[in-house]
Amino acid sequence: MIEVRELTRTFAGRGGMLGRSSVQALRGVDVTIPDRGAVSLIGESGCGKTTLGRILCGFEQFDGGDVIVDGQSLRELKPQDRVPYFRRVQLIHQDPYSALNPTRTIGQILADPLALRARQLDADGGWQDARRAELLGLVGLDPDYVLPRYPHMLSGGMRQRVVIARALTVDPEVLVADEAVSMIDVSLRLGILQLLRDLRDKVGVSVLFITHDVATARYVGQGGELYVIYRGMVIEQGSTDTIIQRPAHPYTQSLLSAIPVLRGIEEPGPDRVVPTGPLDERVVPPGCLFEPRCPFAADDCRAAVPALSRRSGTEQLHACLHPAQRSVVAVPVAGPAA
Ligand SMILES: Nc1ncnc2c1ncn2[C@@H]1O[C@H](COP(=O)(O)OP(=O)(O)O)[C@@H](O)[C@H]1O
Ligand code: SF4
Ligand SMILES: [Mg+2]
Repeated sequence: MIEVRELTRTFAGRGGMLGRSSVQALRGVDVTIPDRGAVSLIGESGCGKTTLGRILCGFEQFDGGDVIVDGQSLRELKPQDRVPYFRRVQLIHQDPYSALNPTRTIGQILADPLALRARQLDADGGWQDARRAELLGLVGLDPDYVLPRYPHMLSGGMRQRVVIARALTVDPEVLVADEAVSMIDVSLRLGILQLLRDLRDKVGVSVLFITHDVATARYVGQGGELYVIYRGMVIEQGSTDTIIQRPAHPYTQSLLSAIPVLRGIEEPGPDRVVPTGPLDERVVPPGCLFEPRCPFAADDCRAAVPALSRRSGTEQLHACLHPAQRSVVAVPVAGPAA
């Protein structure tokens, strides 16, 4: 199990013409990834999802809070002693092409991490060959076809499957899939999402699914936990199915209301929520961060940042002073009366 506790990360300003001030990418985030769990993070671009995923994989530092892996606090360890813990979390990011060395065949790409793993397990060369074929089979690839080929000879979907197979060579506990299908041909996306969903049962790995697209989170995260992030804070958390059917936080409601409706087949949910304006990152309000855009804002929303808590008989946690479950997702068009 991996627990993220009150994690914070601030980036120094990038300067430039606007003399941009520092960015608080994470403002005290708590996330629990249970064994064999399905956890999804959703939120619009720039809300801190990638930063959180990269911290979990050891590619980014955190400046406050902690990451606890199977009871071990990473904050208590020196950076070099954290390496074995980060091996347990593998990143699948959006561009499978840049993740694979174009000058090496798939066989060569998989050989190095497998040789390392074989040394750790005191296994021989025969084990490596068998494991390579097994992993490719797990991700739905034919070893005879892909092993001699270079990345550019494969489709985007096949390349992403190779990236997943390579991540599995180290027997990780968690796969962090960060917008993992956004650069893949639409026709091949479903297969990759299905694979990510199936791997939980097949190899017992947990999947942290990071996306701005609610529809994909709904598919992969079915039966799991959903975290909705706004400007570096978790503003709603609960079972994926409950949040999508009955969101209680106005920001979640606005995200779900924005899902395109299938014309002629669906119509917008009856309680659709539209923000009152665009996000202005330069303004950090003193109270609720969503207040400048919230159609339900009241005076008390400007006083202090609402804590994530359970209120008024809803099943999920939300950081809103005036939560109300609303039906915002599209509903089927009513047919002609009989
Ligand atoms: N290395 C960096 N240097 C400066 N700012 C960064 C850096 N990485 C991310 N940020 C900023 O942190 C915020 C969160 O970014 P990110 O985690 O990539 O969000 P998301 O993945 O949700 O789109 C953004 O405002 C982004 O510009
Ligand atoms: S706390 Fe107030 S401003 Fe914030 S989301 Fe809830 S109603 Fe809107
Ligand atoms: Mg991102």
